[in-house]
Amino acid sequence: MSRFKAMVLSGTLTPTPLSAINWDTIGFGGIVTPFVGGSVALSDGIFEPVSVVPNGTIAVPPLACCLNYGQELFEGMKAQRGPDGKIRMFRIEANAQRMAKGAARFMLSPPPQELYRQAVIATVKANADYVPPYGKGSLYVRPILAGVGMTLSPVPSDTTLFLVTCIPVGLHYKGSAMINVKVETEFQRAAAKGTGWVKAAGNYAPCFLPSYEAKHQGYDDLLFLNQTGSHVEEVGTANFAVVKNGVLYAADSPSILPGITRDSVMRIAREILHMDVVFGPLELDRVLGLGAYAHEGPADEAFFTGTAAVISPISKIHYRGKDYTFGDTPGPFATQLRDQLVGIQTGRYPDPFGWVAEVD
Ligand code: PLP
Ligand code: COI
Repeated sequence: MSRFKAMVLSGTLTPTPLSAINWDTIGFGGIVTPFVGGSVALSDGIFEPVSVVPNGTIAVPPLACCLNYGQELFEGMKAQRGPDGKIRMFRIEANAQRMAKGAARFMLSPPPQELYRQAVIATVKANADYVPPYGKGSLYVRPILAGVGMTLSPVPSDTTLFLVTCIPVGLHYKGSAMINVKVETEFQRAAAKGTGWVKAAGNYAPCFLPSYEAKHQGYDDLLFLNQTGSHVEEVGTANFAVVKNGVLYAADSPSILPGITRDSVMRIAREILHMDVVFGPLELDRVLGLGAYAHEGPADEAFFTGTAAVISPISKIHYRGKDYTFGDTPGPFATQLRDQLVGIQTGRYPDPFGWVAEVD
């Protein structure tokens, strides 16, 4: 029996019957798929062959490093059905590379690219019935890398679990085609020279409180600033970009997650829509039309980019008691970028970049 199989308590989670799923109303969470895939590496860092097994809770010891010291990373990907009924995945290699970089920082064993690819494809195939019909959503794929060995001392685990689970999802920002956000001025998401650039589980829990408060104040999410409050970083779940005078400005910083959607959107903007793209630190003043940018006014369009968020256009940004508005309907650039991105992902448009892999 594989080490992975021994760690999954197959049968302890009951898959949601397909007959109980209404594809028109799936949200973001709540459905259990029948299979999980993965592999385990011991202290030699070598992962055993991938296995896919019936879903279940995971048996890890109480002193597992991931539970005690947060030695855990994850990825987010999507499998989508196209108008031709085929299932496609997007930029698997880029996600595998990002996980490997994070693993090096967190001293976890990195799953080799080919093993990562095999694991996500085999798990999606096993759960193929749970990929929503074309246009109704996607199968969100969540690869997890966790130190599951026992460590009382805060030192790296000798055992790394690579686990792939998936779940059908609709839109992340459900019900709000345009989203309203608040600039967070009290809390920061990530430290300078810290690990904000890693998709580490521990980057997310600290955002729960400010994000919970913002939601109770009626906002869909928060926009975090850099450590001096001068530049836009990202949301807790997506990157941030604006279009101003036809130019795409994609926010970057050493302490944000280097989004694969952001990278894809920039390439589509440059190479398909022939837009100028500015990629780098983005001043909040430029976004809102303040300070040195007062004469320009605010950006024409603002949006989030991410696997879950896709391209989520922003209607209003609230900053220090004032609302800055960017329109009540998605702008022309956000609309075209989204159309191209989702078109490539679903096979509706050709894939000039070699990003898409067919699953079957
Ligand atoms: N920033 C954070 C903090 C995220 O969690 C995500 C989501 O994955 C992103 C940005 C966007 O990254 P990607 O486009 O690779 O999904
Ligand atoms: C993703 O877009 O893949 C993410 O990881 C965001 C998630 C926290 C909902």
